[in-house]
Amino acid sequence: MIEIKNVSKGFGDKEILKGVSALMETGKTNLIIGTSGSGKTVLQKCMVGLFEVDEGEILYDGKSFTSMQEEERKELRQQIGMLFQGSALFDSMTVERNVKFPLDMFTKWDHKKKIDRVNEVLERVNLKDTNKKYPAEVSGGMKKRVGIARAIVLNPKYLFCDEPNSGLDPQTSMVIDLLIKEITKEYNMTTVINTHDMNSVMEIGQNILYMYQGEKEWVGNNKEIIFSKNKKLNEFIFASEFLRDAKDMRMLEEKGIIDNDRNMEEVMKDPEAHLLMGDNEKRESHPDREDEK
Ligand SMILES: Nc1ncnc2c1ncn2[C@@H]1O[C@H](COP(=O)(O)OP(=O)(O)OP(=O)(O)O)[C@@H](O)[C@H]1O
Ligand SMILES: [Mg+2]
Repeated sequence: MIEIKNVSKGFGDKEILKGVSALMETGKTNLIIGTSGSGKTVLQKCMVGLFEVDEGEILYDGKSFTSMQEEERKELRQQIGMLFQGSALFDSMTVERNVKFPLDMFTKWDHKKKIDRVNEVLERVNLKDTNKKYPAEVSGGMKKRVGIARAIVLNPKYLFCDEPNSGLDPQTSMVIDLLIKEITKEYNMTTVINTHDMNSVMEIGQNILYMYQGEKEWVGNNKEIIFSKNKKLNEFIFASEFLRDAKDMRMLEEKGIIDNDRNMEEVMKDPEAHLLMGDNEKRESHPDREDEK
């Protein structure tokens, strides 16, 4: 678990993060969402020590990262895997060497042990037999999977991903998301993902922090987000009229106001009025409900 306690961070006289507190839970995909410039990357960089916080504290499983000495931080960093935006693979190295790189840096294992581990993680991300290929020879989705394999090769307790789906089509994005979710559970990692991708929010949003202009605006999961009444969050998530209608419909269904196709057309003419009616009058008073007949 990673605890963010009242973290503030600015550059010059520009305040970026304003007293953010949140919990990133173990074994879950923790999402940080928000519009461009809301501070997602700055927050992630504060969490891994690429930026120092101005105020507040970051705790890794109860231990204060903020007040650790450099030696101790180095040790902790070896338990952190990072998937960078655009994968950040070394173009001049094969897939195998890219994935082996952290093992060369941080272990004294012999060559065979390293290659066995590389093969193990490549197999885990469904990339068997690509060892000798170069990044330029594999697709965008495969590059991300190489990036994931490299991020998990040292068996990290914490995994950070900044926009893991950027540049991928929705289907490939889903494959990457589900892979990250699966390995998070399998290895019981604390995974933190920055994203704008609404499919990701709905599919793997087990714990979501919504940032608005450097502040924590909302926290919840992918079920709760559908029913949230937070105006800023809704404007962000349900940015199009189509999605807003879909959300209204889901809420109306949930409240038992839309029971069947017969009344849907009428309800959708003024969904807000019906939603209010659902709130005020509750389910009992609705004339169309089957269980009242
Ligand atoms: N190194 C830096 N120096 C000065 N300002 C910075 C620095 N890094 C980020 N910022 C500013 O902090 C703010 C938040 O940036 P950040 O990159 O965290 O946004 P984001 O939510 O990750 O956006 P995006 O969705 O576009 O990635 C922006 O106004 C940005 O200009
Ligand atoms: Mg960012």
